[in-house]
Amino acid sequence: MRSMVKETGFTAGNLVLPMFVREGLEAPEPIGSMPGVYQHTLESLKVAAREAVDAGVGGIMLFGVPAHHDAVGSAGVDPEGILNVGLKALRDEIGDEAVIIADLCLDEFTDHGHCGVLAEDGTVDNDATLEIYREMAVIQAKSGAHMLGLSGMMDGQVAACREALDEADFANVSILAYSAKYASAYYGPFREAVDSQLKGDRRTYQMDVANRTEGLREALLDIEEGADVVMVKPAGSYLDVLADVAEASTVPVAAYQVSGEYAMIEAAAERGWLDRDRTIMESVSAIARAGATIICTYWATELARKVNHG
Ligand code: PBG
Repeated sequence: MRSMVKETGFTAGNLVLPMFVREGLEAPEPIGSMPGVYQHTLESLKVAAREAVDAGVGGIMLFGVPAHHDAVGSAGVDPEGILNVGLKALRDEIGDEAVIIADLCLDEFTDHGHCGVLAEDGTVDNDATLEIYREMAVIQAKSGAHMLGLSGMMDGQVAACREALDEADFANVSILAYSAKYASAYYGPFREAVDSQLKGDRRTYQMDVANRTEGLREALLDIEEGADVVMVKPAGSYLDVLADVAEASTVPVAAYQVSGEYAMIEAAAERGWLDRDRTIMESVSAIARAGATIICTYWATELARKVNHG
């Protein structure tokens, strides 16, 4: 009876697994604050991606960790840069069996850790950054990404990347816009995952935790600019924003259960303070209930096996 009247849920295909590939690694490197998550070598990336796809996950979202950072994030636009090489490796392994999503942002590549390049006064230069994003978009598409995850929160990034893709004959490469991305403390463990040394904070371009209507406004703007999917991030603490966006959106809605959400549950479970499996399922089910069709979670492979095989 409970199963018959169940209102919401998710399938394996709704899940997206975020993965990290690091340049110059000899063996996969565990991320201390995210037990069970690794910085991958090109080889181990393929193995773990294969496992995820065989479990039924719908997509893989790839982040690159370069050996060298600089002020303008050159590794991001280098066809031989680790993210682009990683995308090629993934596409070789996975083909079209799952959606390969490239993270399109500069923070993994810059030495100051900001999502864009800096103006002389030290603020992030929105429009100069868009020029680099346009280049990244084309290189990521050439490297085999099916979809680009625009996570930098620059104004106009969706329109700029859409135009660049169309001009380069990549009309079929789609855009997942991180529309409502909050300036959140829950990204803490991710900084370790990508070895980012952020100086300052991201509050001039990421959203204020206190703002709800702004989340919806950002999503609607991105849809107008041509986003194929709009995303709310983090997920668990922003279910109100997610519900608003899901109600109003004319495109599929995604939510990103971020590194800190993962770390909290794993850490409490390790101490025996929470029932790990039940808490994970509850946290992800709540995100689906609030209206997300696509759910990015570091538990994607494990959950996909569970929902596929009962
Ligand atoms: C930016 C980006 C971040 C995350 C995904 N993309 C970090 C940030 O904006 O500070 C965080 C993801 C997570 O915490 O799991 N490229």
